Amino acid sequence: MAHHIALAFLVSFLFCAQNIASANFDFYYLVLEWPGSYCKDRSVNGCCKPTTFSNYPLKEDFLIKGLYTYKASGQPVTKCNNTKFYVNALRNSIVDLYVQWPSIKCPSNNGVSQWSDAWTNYGVCSGLNETAYFEKALQLRKKINLLSVLECEDIYPSDDFCYSPYYVRKAIRYGLGADVGIKCSKDKSGAFQIAEIYVCVDKTASKVIDCPVLPNSNCGRDVFFPDFYNSMLKGISASSFDPLEMVTSQ
Ligand SMILES: *[C@@H]1O[C@H](CO)[C@@H](O)[C@H](O)[C@H]1NC(C)=O
Ligand SMILES: *[C@@H]1O[C@H](CO)[C@@H](O)[C@H](O)[C@H]1NC(C)=O
Repeated sequence: MAHHIALAFLVSFLFCAQNIASANFDFYYLVLEWPGSYCKDRSVNGCCKPTTFSNYPLKEDFLIKGLYTYKASGQPVTKCNNTKFYVNALRNSIVDLYVQWPSIKCPSNNGVSQWSDAWTNYGVCSGLNETAYFEKALQLRKKINLLSVLECEDIYPSDDFCYSPYYVRKAIRYGLGADVGIKCSKDKSGAFQIAEIYVCVDKTASKVIDCPVLPNSNCGRDVFFPDFYNSMLKGISASSFDPLEMVTSQ
């Protein structure tokens, strides 16, 4: 009898352990950040050129903020295992990362710490290896061209106009075929501006889907979609710095 109970415990333990190991996510949020809003965000201290900027200036376009693993219930799925981050695993896509997934935080930096955070928080839950996880994010970013989707509906970055967030979402729904979430920040004068667009993507990280759950929108009735130019990024001394050179020459 005792044996049976012990066995039942063992079986249920193994079963649960396996459930935890495969504690699975249901979809991804590809989060795209509008740098023009980041530069004007009253809660941060401006925006800075990445240290790789002189060799790899940014396109004046949406940046990748993250590719987040989520449950359909709206819970993030994070830190599933301790697989380490190696910047060398990104050598084939590093130039795209400099341009599409840079950090424009001040002080200037080379982006590595945000990629490392992306991997250790979410990437390790994706079931992809590090190389594939970042490549998927880049491929999605290339496929999802929000600026042209918005332009088709006459929504342009501008410091002069504001838009109804409802209209912006509708324009994106029309262009991408799926609803997205919009998060706003406030500029220095307290006006709402479009900070991030949450696009939902299926588990294979290849198709845009309707969001199982939308992040809470915190936008007012009108939002700005401010201009962005590379010239808005605060400069650093000319020395450019390539994280891969640093790592591979160790
Ligand atoms: C950890 O997660 C990564 C990414 O999902 C996966 O490639 C790797 O096999 C996992 N490692 C372990 C030990 O479960
Ligand atoms: C990462 O995953 C991709 C896709 O499954 C595979 O082709 C590649 O060989 C893997 N790379 C490593 C270093 O395991």
